[in-house]
Amino acid sequence: MIFCPLIYGQTVKNAAPEVYDIYPDKVKAHVETTMYGIFFEDINMAADGGVYAELVKNRSFEFDVPLTGWTAHKKDGAGNSTRDLNKYEALNDMVVLNRGPESADNPRYLRITLPDNGIPFGISNGGFRGMGIKENETYNFSILARNAEQSSITLNIELHDAGGNVIGKTELTPVDRDWKRYAVSFKATATANKAQLYLWFSGKGAIDVDMVSLFPEHTWKNRPGGLRADLVQKLADLKPGFLRFPGGCIVEGRDLANRYQWKKTLGAIDNRKTIISRWNQEIQGRFMPDYYQSFGLGFMEYFLTAEDIGASPLPILNCGMACEFNTGEVVPLDQLDPYIQDALDLIEFANGGLDTKWGKLRADLGHPAPFNLKMIGVGNEQWAPQYIERWKLFTKAIKDKYPDIKLVSSLGPLPDGEIFDGLNKTFRALNADILDEHYYKSPKWFLENAGRYDHYDRNGPKIFAGEYAAQSVGTTSPDNKNNWECALSEAAFMTGLERNADVVNMASYAPLFAHEDAWQWKPDLIWFDNLQSYGTPDYYVQQLFSLNKGTDAVPLLLNAAAVEGQNGCYATACIDKNTHQLIIKFVNTNATAQNASFHITGSGSYQKQVAVTTISSDNKDAENSLANPIVISPVQTTIQVSGKTFKISMEPYSVKVLRLTSM
Ligand code: AHR
Repeated sequence: MIFCPLIYGQTVKNAAPEVYDIYPDKVKAHVETTMYGIFFEDINMAADGGVYAELVKNRSFEFDVPLTGWTAHKKDGAGNSTRDLNKYEALNDMVVLNRGPESADNPRYLRITLPDNGIPFGISNGGFRGMGIKENETYNFSILARNAEQSSITLNIELHDAGGNVIGKTELTPVDRDWKRYAVSFKATATANKAQLYLWFSGKGAIDVDMVSLFPEHTWKNRPGGLRADLVQKLADLKPGFLRFPGGCIVEGRDLANRYQWKKTLGAIDNRKTIISRWNQEIQGRFMPDYYQSFGLGFMEYFLTAEDIGASPLPILNCGMACEFNTGEVVPLDQLDPYIQDALDLIEFANGGLDTKWGKLRADLGHPAPFNLKMIGVGNEQWAPQYIERWKLFTKAIKDKYPDIKLVSSLGPLPDGEIFDGLNKTFRALNADILDEHYYKSPKWFLENAGRYDHYDRNGPKIFAGEYAAQSVGTTSPDNKNNWECALSEAAFMTGLERNADVVNMASYAPLFAHEDAWQWKPDLIWFDNLQSYGTPDYYVQQLFSLNKGTDAVPLLLNAAAVEGQNGCYATACIDKNTHQLIIKFVNTNATAQNASFHITGSGSYQKQVAVTTISSDNKDAENSLANPIVISPVQTTIQVSGKTFKISMEPYSVKVLRLTSM
C-alpha cells in the first residue's frame, strides 16, 4: 500500500486503491437524533421579508421614520394618471398620530383626510424589496380602521406590477367609528416579483388606519398570517434534529433595550412591539435602515415550526448582556432577576401544564400539548467575565427548578485562542452540559480540523457546533461565496463531527437564510427572492449528512487510523439500527478520482444492491443560483457489489454516501 502524507485538495494518483476497513460490529458512538439541525436568525431579511409571509413592510408605522416603505399619491382630476407626492405635499392629506400609553406597543397610526375636491388620495407600500405575487393566488388583505368622523370613504386596494399594471384589486368601505379590523380577499391576475400594494381612498372626510397587511392565502400548512411555504419546506427537507432560534446576535441586541424578549412576541400581532433590527447598521457597506423586527414570527411560531418539521426546539435567551460586538451593555447583577424569570417562564410556557400561568397561555394560543423542550441556551456569543457570573445565576435557578433541562453555554465567537481556551476551561470546571462552538473559517481550516474532536474529553460537556460555515474570502466579507469548495470542506469536517458523535451532539450551519436583495452576511445556507428560493451546495451537504446520519458511528479506518485527510480523503461510517443499514460517507477533495476499496469486517452480510448518493463537480467554484438552482445537488444511483470487499471510484471533488442493507 502506498502511504502519502496529508495532502489537502491536491491531485493524488493511487497506484492501487487504499483499503478502508469498516467495523460495523464495534459501535463507537451513539449518534443523537439532534445531530444535524438548523440555526435560525433574523439576519439577511430571514424573518420579515423572508419566511414570515407578510408582504407589507412597516405595516404599523412603527419604524423610527414612520412612513418608511410608504409613498403617497394623487390622481389627476379625471382619475386617470397618478403622481407621487413628496413628503411635504403628502402632509396635507395624511399625518402620523400617536395613541400614547393607550397602545404602548403599537402607538402610531395614520390619519388620512381627503381633499374637498374629491380627488382620490393614495398610499402605496413597496414591500420588502418589492412584493412577490403569484398569478391565481388569493391574497388576504386586512387593515385596522376607524371612521372617526362618520365619513364616507371607500378604499380601493390594488396590486401593481413593476410596470404599473394592475394585477389584482378589490375594495372595502370601513364604516365603524371605533377601531375595527376589516378584511377582504382577492385573486392576483399575474405573477410579479416586485409588485406594490396601493390603497386609494375616495370619498369625503377623514379615516384612521393601522396594521395594513397582505398575506398569500397559501402559507406553510395554510396558517393564516403564516410562513412562506417554499422556505419552510426547505427546512423540513433537511429533516433537522433541532431548530435553534431566534439567533444569533439578535438575541443579544445592539443594546439591552433592543434585546430579543420572547414574551413580547406572543399573541395578537398588533401588540407585538416592532423594534429595530440589530443587523440594521451592522455590516459596513450593507447598511439597511429599513430593517426592523415586527415579531410576526415570534416564539409561538418558532415552537410550532420546530414541531412541524420534527425538530427539537432550542431557544437561546439573552443572559443580561447586549452584543459584545456592539454596546456590550450588561445588566447589573441585582437587576438580573427578570432575565432569569424569562428563562423559567419560557420553560413553563413550553412544557408546563394547563394549570400553570405560562402553560395555560400556550393552550390559549392554540397548543394545549407541551412542546417537549429539553434544552435552552443562556447567552449567544458571549465571552466577557460578566458572562460567567450571570451564567452561574441562570444555571442555578434553572437547574433548581428544572434539573432535566440541558443548558447550552457559549464559548464565544472563535474556535480557538485565549478567549476560547479560557471559556472552555471555565465551563468544563463548572460541569456545563453543552458547549456552543462557532467557526467561520477558511475551507482550509475545515479540512485541517476534521480531526478536531478526536481527542476531546469523552466525559466532559457535549459539543454543539452551533454556527459554522466555510468562508471563501474571510468572515463577513461581502465577496464570500457559497461555492462547492466551501461545501466540500464542510463535508470533510462533518465526517469528523460524526465520527465523534459521542462528544458532538449537535451541529448547524449559519446563517440560514438570505434575501438576494437584502443580505448583510455571506455565505448563507438558503437564498431566496420574493418568489423563489434555492439551496446552496452547503445546503445539499447538510441535507446529505442529516438524511444519512444513522444511529451509531462505527470505525472506518485506513491503516488503523481515522480517515481525516490522508490522500485528500475523509470518511466515516455508521449503522442505522432502525433500517438495518451500514452507511459510508466518503469525501474526495482531490481534483482526480480516487479508487477506494472497502473491507467490511464482522459477522453481517449485505444485499448486493447498494444505494448511492453523490454530490460532485469538477469545478470547485461552482455555485447554485435562482436561475440554476441545482448545479450542485445530490444524484441518486444504485450499484451492485458482491461480498464484503468492494472497490468504488470516488469522483473528483465529491461527497458520496453508500447505504448497504443487511441481509
Ligand atoms: O451568523 C451570523 C452571526 O455570527 C451570529 O449572529 C453570531 O452569533 C455570529 O457572530
